[in-house]
Amino acid sequence: MTALINHLKQSSLLKTQSYVNGQWVKQNKTFSVNNPANNKVIAEVNDDGAEQTALAIAAAVKAQKEWSKTLSVERFAKLTRWYELIMANQDDLAAIMTVEQGKPLAEAKAEIAYGAQFIQWFAEQAKRIKGEVLPNPSSDRRISVIKQPVGVVGIVTPWNFPSSMITRKVAPALAAGCTVVIKPAAETPLSALALAELAHQAEIPDGVINIIVGEDAQSIGEVLTQHPDVAKFSFTGSTKVGKKLLEQCASTVKKVSLELGGNAPFIVFDDADLDAAVEGAIASKFRNTGQTCVCANRLLVQDSIYDEFVDRLSRKVSELTTGDGLQDSVDLGPMIHRNALEKTHQLVKDSIDNGAILVTGGQLPKDNSNFYPATLIKDVSNQMKIAQTEIFGPVAPVIKFETESEAIEMANDTRYGLAAYFYARDIGRCYRVMEQLEYGMVGINAGVISNPLAPFGGVKESGIGREGGSEGIEEFLEIKYACYGDI
Ligand code: SIN
Repeated sequence: MTALINHLKQSSLLKTQSYVNGQWVKQNKTFSVNNPANNKVIAEVNDDGAEQTALAIAAAVKAQKEWSKTLSVERFAKLTRWYELIMANQDDLAAIMTVEQGKPLAEAKAEIAYGAQFIQWFAEQAKRIKGEVLPNPSSDRRISVIKQPVGVVGIVTPWNFPSSMITRKVAPALAAGCTVVIKPAAETPLSALALAELAHQAEIPDGVINIIVGEDAQSIGEVLTQHPDVAKFSFTGSTKVGKKLLEQCASTVKKVSLELGGNAPFIVFDDADLDAAVEGAIASKFRNTGQTCVCANRLLVQDSIYDEFVDRLSRKVSELTTGDGLQDSVDLGPMIHRNALEKTHQLVKDSIDNGAILVTGGQLPKDNSNFYPATLIKDVSNQMKIAQTEIFGPVAPVIKFETESEAIEMANDTRYGLAAYFYARDIGRCYRVMEQLEYGMVGINAGVISNPLAPFGGVKESGIGREGGSEGIEEFLEIKYACYGDI
């Protein structure tokens, strides 16, 4: 903890307790948060559970009564202040993130800015919530439709984007007039608590934002998904856990948003600009050490350019450096923990055992560290485990295809439908392929497409609902139809 404090300009950003009703809650039981770059403990954080979660929900219910009545310009002002404070503390927030999550400092800084942009965007959107007046159904009747905040929102967020996955949900919720109870991942609670401290400094009223830190995700999740006073539940994480939480939400018929796993195809057609495709593949695949739901998971490359593409890509992949994200010029930080690394390595081994060829990387570290090298495998088939599993690690498997229709068929041959990417120059092909890909988001000659202005989300087993864009706030609003008779 002391070592981390030395990195910060504002040491008050380092908090280790749950934040409920505007207070930091005391608790004796703690759990350790580790730096994945060296497995050393960086902080002991309070271990709260079901009981504290229920208290946080009660605080959110109380606060919601006032917050839902605030004018949209007041919510705009509070959110804007929060945004400004986050940007003013960008370096400190990035240092906290790198130490608990591992991503290189430059990526952590970019994530802080990306996350803050959701607050800036939804502060504006608060002023654009509007209803409708419909044509009269008869001469003595009038119809209007209004939008109202859903109520208290339960939120569970992952460790891979410890800051932006919180702001992407909390900003639209608050803009809509809802209050929230958040459970951040146990691996990365410090980034979440630092955001709460800045929300406190921004004078967001007590009880509007509540954060429960604890290791027992199951008990906290049970309360957030089953409590009758929680009207809406929003989750980012794996499809397996998302399905379970969705089932739990059924008991009280909550409104639900789920942003789940992906198996993104990255297709390179024979008319693509190969240098641009290589650059896009590196950015898409290796961002956050490959631990991103929208990361390219499988590279599908047309046969006539296959060898050339693999050759150019392998040169770039072998140049990627791995190390502690606090050091300068590191491209890839550690994986989040050893289990994640071993799971990734097993997928690599399985593909090689089944005939794929290792081009670069692929070795387990000699020590017990969490560093896995950037890896490229060729001659992979779309049926192999590595092509059908969300890898969530820095491994790029390359698959060969012959025709456009074969590429589309392979790309859609998965239960996931989050993001897909392709590189081509022919405009007809670009439109045709974009339309046929069964995905919520498609990058055309673009390897990184996340943006607060656009609706982020998936189809099939990749999720329900959209975050960001003008759609993002609708997830936190209910529609009320009013019929006036006897006019
Ligand atoms: C995610 O992994 O779900 C988030 C990635 C992003 O927002 O780009």
